[in-house]
Amino acid sequence: MTHDLVLVVDFGGQYTQLIVRRIRELNVYSEMVAWNGAAAAIRDRKPSAVILSGGPRSVLEENAPNLDFSVLEGIPTLGICYGQQLMAAALGGEVRSTSHREYGFQTLLEQAEGSLVAEMSSPEVWMSHGDQVIGAPAGFEVTASTAACPIAAMENTAAQKYAVQFHPEVTHTPSGRALLAKFIQVAEVRQDWTAENFIEEQIASIRATVGDGKVLCAVSGGVDSSVMAALLTRAIGDRAVCVFVDHGLLRKNEAAQVIDTFGTYFNGNLKAFHEHDRFFGALAGLTDPEKKRKVVGEQFVRVFEDHADELSGCDYLAQGTLYPDVIESGSPTAAKIKTHHNVGGLPDWMRLKLIEPLRWLFKDEVRDVGRRLGLPDEMVDREPFPGPGLTVRIVGEVTRERVQIVQDADWIFREELRMAGLRKEIWQSYAALLDVRSVGVMGDERTYQHPIVLRAVQSEDAMTARAVNIPFEVLERVAFRIVNEVSGVNRVFYDLTSKPPATIELE
Ligand code: XMP
Repeated sequence: MTHDLVLVVDFGGQYTQLIVRRIRELNVYSEMVAWNGAAAAIRDRKPSAVILSGGPRSVLEENAPNLDFSVLEGIPTLGICYGQQLMAAALGGEVRSTSHREYGFQTLLEQAEGSLVAEMSSPEVWMSHGDQVIGAPAGFEVTASTAACPIAAMENTAAQKYAVQFHPEVTHTPSGRALLAKFIQVAEVRQDWTAENFIEEQIASIRATVGDGKVLCAVSGGVDSSVMAALLTRAIGDRAVCVFVDHGLLRKNEAAQVIDTFGTYFNGNLKAFHEHDRFFGALAGLTDPEKKRKVVGEQFVRVFEDHADELSGCDYLAQGTLYPDVIESGSPTAAKIKTHHNVGGLPDWMRLKLIEPLRWLFKDEVRDVGRRLGLPDEMVDREPFPGPGLTVRIVGEVTRERVQIVQDADWIFREELRMAGLRKEIWQSYAALLDVRSVGVMGDERTYQHPIVLRAVQSEDAMTARAVNIPFEVLERVAFRIVNEVSGVNRVFYDLTSKPPATIELE
């Protein structure tokens, strides 16, 4: 890529990914790099600017995460929280550990004219720190303070070094974006990273990589693989061989919808393999969540093996891996397939090479790319759906009957959410089936049946999540309808747990 790069050095902060996102929102390409690989990355990649993240440690500790500041010479640098303390310590300032942790909203008492903080129209800032800088290094001006924090911001414009104790990347700092925008401006970073450019560059890169070969695009109907398939199709036409495995573990009517939508938007360029028997056969008797997941992954591979003739000539496999997956896998360069994805591993005979054109993007950026590629809203705005499908929403054994119960309950729940106008604020919602039974009474008869759990969460990239505040009447109606319309269910729960400590899926 030929764009300017802003490297965000991660010192283990809880908001580091958010910094990357905020910088990208300014149309600047940004990536995260772990602190211990940062010096080498800065030397190799010559970023136009560097941001040092927050982190849970203390710079006063022995062996605290560190960075050789000589690599930052001549590079505009912004330190945030731990990054500010590290900058102060490295450049001759003074850092002190305080007896209490300062956490929450603070107000900037003054904002020095012409400084980065002067851009902030709101003085409210979000703080979360134990240590603080009490002496700025020589050459630095203190540009803001709060009641509890004498050096809430400092800068040395001649050296192009800037630092803040608060977190401009979180939405709790209302004018944080203005500060980041000013930093990008004073650092003279070009703001030319857009979805259109991304599409053009990826198309060129896919064509250069694939030559006149064929690419197997495994699509699930989900956003990521749909956008990936659209990009590949745009780049190499029907040499992108789109394959959809209908495993019987999707939501009600979803398989037919996927085939229909793909048929319309990809000129019928989709091979659908209907494999319910295979998947239900392999899942019979299994209750362990990881085993179930693994079996589904393995069966995908078997499907490809059994259809080898139709797929012959494919040299590459395209996957919809996203940047959070890459970050979580720990190595930004390793082409690692997670059990998380639809394809649970590559069979030897295929010897497919991987293409992951979306591996630099966050979910909302993928959606943007999808829209610009002309995909319909019904595809782009779809909720994320796990590769193993309803398997992870059925506690205990997965059978056709139990899948049907979940599908029917899920259908009712989502229909009611749609009718109540709540879908827009929901990141993910679903019904799941538990493996316990409880007593009920229906039509004067005692029942002893299974409960359905409803889950609806708000989230940004699924790393954290909160239960959606669904009006009681809506929940009550959903519960009433499920118990009355879905046989085998006599009780309905709504899951209020956030992530962490819970996860979004039950398994
Ligand atoms: P959790 O349950 O870990 O889910 O909070 C985070 C996000 O990942 C999805 N998810 C999966 N996706 N294979 C997938 O492709 C899986 O095994 C899997 N487990 C969870 C989940 O739907 C949510 O969006």
